[in-house]
Amino acid sequence: MSDVASFTSVPLTRHKTAVPVLPLSVADLVLRFGDATVLDGVQLELGASGCTVIMGPNGAGKTLFLKLLHGLIPPTSGQISWGGLTTSDAMSRQALVFQKPVLLRRSVAANIDFVLKSRGKDRNRRTDLLRHVGLAHKADQPARLLSGGEAQRLALARALATDPDILFLDEPTASLDPGSVLAIEHIVTEALARGVRVVFVTHDIGQARRMADDVVFLHRGRVAEHSPASEFFPEPRSAVARDFLNGQLLV
Ligand SMILES: Nc1ncnc2c1ncn2[C@@H]1O[C@H](COP(=O)(O)OP(=O)(O)OP(=O)(O)O)[C@@H](O)[C@H]1O
Ligand SMILES: [Mg+2]
Repeated sequence: MSDVASFTSVPLTRHKTAVPVLPLSVADLVLRFGDATVLDGVQLELGASGCTVIMGPNGAGKTLFLKLLHGLIPPTSGQISWGGLTTSDAMSRQALVFQKPVLLRRSVAANIDFVLKSRGKDRNRRTDLLRHVGLAHKADQPARLLSGGEAQRLALARALATDPDILFLDEPTASLDPGSVLAIEHIVTEALARGVRVVFVTHDIGQARRMADDVVFLHRGRVAEHSPASEFFPEPRSAVARDFLNGQLLV
């Protein structure tokens, strides 16, 4: 909990973009590596607001799906449409945070400055961003010396520095202590309140219950179920999701 003690919430402003990147539509998405089909005909429609949680066992295709949605890899077939924008225009409006934070071997401040400069954003936002994630007091420290929870908060601040319309999170709290998990969830909740669309992969059922407006359950590269959270947790429609919630589905 020690690295969270200095966490203070500083409101960030958000700039509305002219052409909406949402809704995001996915049609017949297939991804193959050689003979292996890792995503198999995925259909999905993501509306303008809220938090979609993606769940599913290890190897279900969650990370690859996020990479496709973010435009990092092309599908074998099928379409992703971001409100009519091209892939590269859409990418600049979305940010992806991985389970293992991706940081530069520079100071905490320089990590933020790099993103602000490369995206042509106001450099004065650095202080607000660092205060927002409770890291203002670490600004001059090398990023590689941060604890796991602090490093993930810096990764989130880097993502928020791009002022994204959509924030993709791939198990961002998988190896963090409970205080750090709540700190990350708090930052994500504030982003949601500012209107950022969130797509959140997690194995943590408690976290999914706290964060989700709707749940996509992936199993063996297919969408087994996409339900509102209020229906998914008390009464999942698919047998695989039911088994997963009961701790029985391993693959
Ligand atoms: N470059 C690749 N070549 C071949 N197979 C791959 C490649 N990358 C991933 N895979 C396979 O695709 C499947 C889906 O991988 P993915 O990382 O999306 O799973 P995941 O649902 O995120 O799992 P986890 O919960 O463990 O993070 C896995 O079986 C994985 O081994
Ligand atoms: Mg994964």
